[in-house]
Order: sequence, then structure tokens, then C-alpha cells
Amino acid sequence: MDRFALTGRTALVTGAARGLGRAFATALAEAGADLVLTDLPGDSELTATAARIEALGRSVHVLTQDLSRTDELHGFADRVRAAAGPVHILVNNAGVAALERFNEITPESWYRVMRVNLDAVFFLTQRIAEHMVADRVTGRIISVTSKNALVAEAGLAHYNASKAAVDLLTQTLAVELAPHGITVNSIAPGMVDTPIDGAFPFDRAAFEAAYRERIPLGRYAEPEECTGALLLLASDAGAYLTGTRVVVDGGVLADQMPRTRFMPPYRNTLTPETAE
Ligand SMILES: NC(=O)c1ccc[n+]([C@@H]2O[C@H](COP(=O)([O-])OP(=O)(O)OC[C@H]3O[C@@H](n4cnc5c(N)ncnc54)[C@H](O)[C@@H]3O)[C@@H](O)[C@H]2O)c1
Repeated sequence: MDRFALTGRTALVTGAARGLGRAFATALAEAGADLVLTDLPGDSELTATAARIEALGRSVHVLTQDLSRTDELHGFADRVRAAAGPVHILVNNAGVAALERFNEITPESWYRVMRVNLDAVFFLTQRIAEHMVADRVTGRIISVTSKNALVAEAGLAHYNASKAAVDLLTQTLAVELAPHGITVNSIAPGMVDTPIDGAFPFDRAAFEAAYRERIPLGRYAEPEECTGALLLLASDAGAYLTGTRVVVDGGVLADQMPRTRFMPPYRNTLTPETAE
């Protein structure tokens, strides 16, 4: 298990106030990393994440930044380094989504999604990677994409496009940074129980019930269920993984049709007894 230990390393997690970001930051701290947490200025929930990290005995810096201000991101990366020293692990987690039909997406909405989900990932990674090379750290860059980077979901043209773009960006940077010993990978979650689509204009309970039927494991993930993939990619245990993705989706992408619901009963029913 020593190969998963992150003692002596510093991790920067974006979107750390809630949801997956909070779970990722907590897991990294549990593995021994010190943390730099960031989210939007004035987000009071960020202090709750910071308190969790402190309770685990790890050092924590909180530096807020609106990531959509892409021209500020090199300066932000410099502030992080000045406050916390070299960053070993960058987790590009912050993201936004909006449910809109493709012909109703305004330029404002399109660019809002692109700026946070794609542009910010690129410009923050650009500067942090330069620091990693200069500081000679064995860097780990992990971006949170989505199963929607691989298979589309209606009503999310901008979101899907942004996540697919980060996937190819991940491969490109993996190749460019490999000579420096820095790995670059992504995590593609399926449906996770977080506040992200709380503002979507539909009956969330009805949608979730219908969606669960399409998930082979039959339920949404808890944010903590994505942290195993993160710890693998962030630690020495994942040293030979680069330019790839870990899909954490409960089997959704493995199942193109809801056929099991329409199949006749098994002739030899697979029960725990027969499995033994
Ligand atoms: N929840 C899911 O089902 C799911 C599925 C696949 C992928 N993802 C991805 O996981 C990541 C985390 O999502 P989540 O579900 O925890 O969502 P969330 O809404 O709970 O958290 C996202 C965080 O990003 C922050 N953020 C948004 N815009 C920002 C900006 N301009 N500057 C700084 N911070 C900003 C928010 O304040 C928030 O704290 C996202 O990239 C999302 O696309 C989520």
C-alpha cells in the first residue's frame, strides 16, 4: 500500500468546495498529501472542505479564483506556488453544465461552459506543468471529464464537446510531458450524486429513476466512489499510466441497449447458490 502513499506531496484541487472536488481533496489528504483548495471567490463551502483536511492533520491553503477568467490563470498558478511551494498533483475538477437544446444555446452559454471546462483546464495546466518541470517534481495531472466525453447525451452539446476536447488534450499533454516524468490522465465519471445538475429545469427524481434503469450497477455513484481512480492516477501505483482515462460509470458505457429487461428468464438462474 506504500505505493499509494502521497506523503510529502502537494495537490491542487479545483472546484473543491463540494461534490467530487471535496471528495477528491479529502481522499488525497487521507493518503498523506498536503492540499491547495480552490473554488469561486466567496464560496463559503470551501472552508468546510478545508476544515476536513485540517482535521486529517494535513496542511491546507485556500486560494479562490474564478477559473473562467483565463487570462488570470498563470498568475493564479504563480500565487499557488508562492503560497504552498511546488505542486506535485493537479486535479482539474471544476466544471459547469447547462441543459439546453443545441439551437437554444447562446454564445454566452457556449463560452461559459467552454471557458470553465476546457480553456481553464488548458491554461492552468500549461502554467502548473511549467512549474513542475522547473521544480523537477514527478508531476501528476488528472482532469475530470465525463462518460459524455465518449458517448453523447442530448441537451448538452457544449458540455459534451468540452469534455471530449479535454480527453484529447490529455493525450497530447501526456506525450509532450512524458520526457519530464509527468503523467497526464483523466477520470470519466458516469452519474454521480452531486449538486451539479441541481438547477436543471426538469423533474430530477423522475429523470434519476429512468436513468438508474440504464446503469448496470443500478444506482448513481457517491463522490467517494471515484476517489480510488484518483489515488491510482495520483500515486506511484499509477506511474506507468499516462495519456489514458479511467471510466467510473457503473457499467453505463458497456451497455448500449436495455436488452436485459426484455430477455426471457434464464433457464439456469444465476443465484448466489449456483455461483458457489
Ligand atoms: N456529478 C456528475 O454526475 C458528473 C458526471 C461526470 C462528470 N462530472 C464532472 O465532475 C466535475 C465535478 O463536478 P461535480 O458533480 O462535483 O459538480 P459540483 O457542481 O458539485 O462542483 C463543481 C465545482 O466547480 C466550481 N466551479 C464552477 N465554475 C467555476 C469557476 N468559474 N471557477 C472556479 N470554480 C468553479 C463550483 O463552484 C463547484 O464547487 C465536473 O468537471 C463535472 O463536469 C460530474
